[in-house]
Amino acid sequence: MKNGEIVLDEAIQGQALSSDNNSTGSKKMYLESYGCQMNFSDSEIVASIMKDQGYSVTDNYKEAELIFVNTCAIRENAETKVRNRLKEYNAIKRKNPGVVIGVLGCMAERLKSKLLEEEKLVDIVAGPDSYRDLPNLLSQVEDGRKAVNVILSKEETYADISPVRLSKNGVTAFISIMRGCDNMCSFCVVPFTRGRERSRDPDTIIDEAQQLYKDGFREVTLLGQNVDSYLWYGGGLKKEFKNLSPDEQLQSVNFAQLLEKVASVNKELRVRFSTSHPKDMTDEVLHMMAKHENICDYIHLPVQSGSSEVLQNMNRGYDREWYLNRIKSIREIIPGCGISSDFITGFCDESEQNHKETLSLMESVKYDFAYMFKYSERPNTQAERKMTDNVDEKSKKERLNEIIQLQQKHSFEANQKHVGNSYKVLIEGTSRKSDAELFGRNSQNNVVVFAKGELKPGDYAEVKIVDCTSATLIGEVL
Ligand code: SAH
Ligand code: SF4
Ligand code: F3S
Repeated sequence: MKNGEIVLDEAIQGQALSSDNNSTGSKKMYLESYGCQMNFSDSEIVASIMKDQGYSVTDNYKEAELIFVNTCAIRENAETKVRNRLKEYNAIKRKNPGVVIGVLGCMAERLKSKLLEEEKLVDIVAGPDSYRDLPNLLSQVEDGRKAVNVILSKEETYADISPVRLSKNGVTAFISIMRGCDNMCSFCVVPFTRGRERSRDPDTIIDEAQQLYKDGFREVTLLGQNVDSYLWYGGGLKKEFKNLSPDEQLQSVNFAQLLEKVASVNKELRVRFSTSHPKDMTDEVLHMMAKHENICDYIHLPVQSGSSEVLQNMNRGYDREWYLNRIKSIREIIPGCGISSDFITGFCDESEQNHKETLSLMESVKYDFAYMFKYSERPNTQAERKMTDNVDEKSKKERLNEIIQLQQKHSFEANQKHVGNSYKVLIEGTSRKSDAELFGRNSQNNVVVFAKGELKPGDYAEVKIVDCTSATLIGEVL
């Protein structure tokens, strides 16, 4: 998420990642990431594995011997963007045949060796669970072969690997707490690209949070496709609590308990998490958020549609009433909590009436922020196999524009309500518009911009909000 922008399609914004503190390696690697935060977090694992092979990360692809593109398959346009990038990198390879190009992540998993055979664009194809194999894949390429590993794992969580932090600010960091997804929403490619759900050992999560705090970081975001179903019981595939043995139950850690452990690392370390799933988000989690000041008052709770009929077709596991009841619990247990969502317009069989129900749900929740997408059919998903992508492109677009406009109005109204209030803001960096200004976030995840004074990134500041746009709060330090 870029600071303060309404990002309509985060998955198509590639970002070159580099790190200032890993310049020890003599060989240079360029690493570009697309897609969700989990993919960015995976790139930090990849950087760590390759650092052990003597590679340091550069943000100039022209000087790289190795180019990795960590890809996303969530919508067709995310893949198109990557294909175009690969063509650009291939032009470089024609001039300098020694350069090795690898495709990592979800598109690698989805297309497997097709990327090597049909398009001849790449040397290495590595799925999300095969990053430990990258050094071996690279040596296969050095021996003159093309290399593929797209095996999905039941156990891999990269728990023992210390990520090389690639985010530039040194204040906020991601920690992956689980991998894969067992939900099978009918539109979604993730269960196929990331495999079965598994949770990571909580002790390794705590160690990572402690290390980050020592290194000066002041905020961690715990990542998973469905953090509410996090359950550690000793390792392996996801299980329900009721199906655990008495011993496993005894040592088990659920998401609320994990939150408490991470929040206890240090009061000055903020804790965020993403993504919550409406069918699994418990009041226990909400009470834990209310109990600890440093667990931020912000929940991203993707609804996808306001129509129970469409939600059923999407196989989301909840209906409109259930979702609104979850919102009610959030408002009761955590007054003032920031809430955001994801929406898909034009899913199979979505009628004009169904779309109106989405608008009316938006009116009743009044989200602070939302990511909004047009439905994009993905090969092999339930929807592709069993349903028809029958909402025409024009209606998809019109409906999308309608929800974007409504959301912009709601974001602006929500921001106006903050004017006059004061918030504790964690400073993340210098504002893009002016060197004399800093930006940070309040607990509710609003971006706040204010004059620099003597402050610096990593500091907390008490800021009074004096003005706003639909994306940003403008404040004065108290
Ligand atoms: N695990 C998260 C979402 C991961 S994907 C959850 O369950 O909410 C991020 C978002 O991309 C989804 O919330 C959805 O809004 C969107 N998305 C997923 N598949 C899509 C598709 N086929 N077409 C359009 N948008 C899609
Ligand atoms: Fe996809 Fe649904 Fe899993 Fe989210 S919960 S990753 S939308 S299958
Ligand atoms: Fe994209 Fe894979 Fe994330 S498909 S959204 S990078 S899990």
